[in-house]
Amino acid sequence: MRRAIRNLFLISGFRTSLGDDFQMKRDFLNITDLNKKEILFLFEKAGYYKEMRKNRKPLDKPLTDKNLGLLFEKPSSRTRISFEVGIRQLGGFPIFLSPENLQITRGERTIDTAKIFNLYLDGLIIRTFKQKEAETFAMYTKFPVINALTDEFHPCQAMTDFFTLWEINKSFKDIVLLYIGDANNVCNTLILGADILGIKMNICTPGKYKVKKEIRDMVKDKTLFKETTDPQKFIKESNVIYTDSWISMGDEKEKEKIKKVFLPYQINKKLLKNAPAEFLFMHCLPAHRNWEVTDEILDGPHSIILKQAENRLYVQQSLLSFLYT
Ligand code: CP
Ligand code: NVA
Repeated sequence: MRRAIRNLFLISGFRTSLGDDFQMKRDFLNITDLNKKEILFLFEKAGYYKEMRKNRKPLDKPLTDKNLGLLFEKPSSRTRISFEVGIRQLGGFPIFLSPENLQITRGERTIDTAKIFNLYLDGLIIRTFKQKEAETFAMYTKFPVINALTDEFHPCQAMTDFFTLWEINKSFKDIVLLYIGDANNVCNTLILGADILGIKMNICTPGKYKVKKEIRDMVKDKTLFKETTDPQKFIKESNVIYTDSWISMGDEKEKEKIKKVFLPYQINKKLLKNAPAEFLFMHCLPAHRNWEVTDEILDGPHSIILKQAENRLYVQQSLLSFLYT
């Protein structure tokens, strides 16, 4: 019976813990855990948090007396700091858990660790390698688990990127998003988010690094997406141009080889010669200056990279408030 109930929730986008004290909870492991209505609701609340911060007004405290662990198995500047600050401002306590100081590194199993976390924590924000690892934590904990980046997905980033575009006109109607570079975790999540929000998206990658079939199969409205290996092909028709590192965390082995393949995909003035006059440039950061993008574009007038980074705070606060109220 309990399995049947759990499966029902899994199918409907909810995940539940199966501890002795069965209770419903909601995780955020991928952008597909939210529907369009919920995403837009979260954007409204993120806008509210942004406004409150600008006016130095006190925030509501949905996390009062809650302890949230931050388990980061890869480095982070933006995600870690914005979550720590965001949690404190909402009345909670962030606890940074570095894997080298946990018994995980001495072989304690994920499932056993999750069961122990259950005894002390009220939430977990996890940055790890395999998505499966985040899913296992979600499956064996009774509190919300938030994906702070895996090899496959980066939902907090993509949510913020869409919010950053949404707050300009409160609409996605005129946006044509072009992602150029490696079809990585950020690209995968932008694709799934664009699908939910009905945004036209073009993707340009070297042939060997194109979008994986599993991701393409997850897309519901295939008419929104076009793919190419020709860096010039979609420049004219795309008013938002996004790139990310060619070498993601954990991919460092192939460094030199990969760089050669990607050079024609560098975002520079020449590549963008025919871009729409008012195009926006986006990057999740950290950028590898003068590899995937040149300084003049990264620091130029079309770049909204700092808006993206700032908005991480408000979007994550909105997400936390949603998951805990
Ligand atoms: N964009 C992003 O997730 O940055 P960090 O790796 O610094 O958290
Ligand atoms: N694709 C990059 C994103 C960093 C925020 C990585 O996974 O390293």
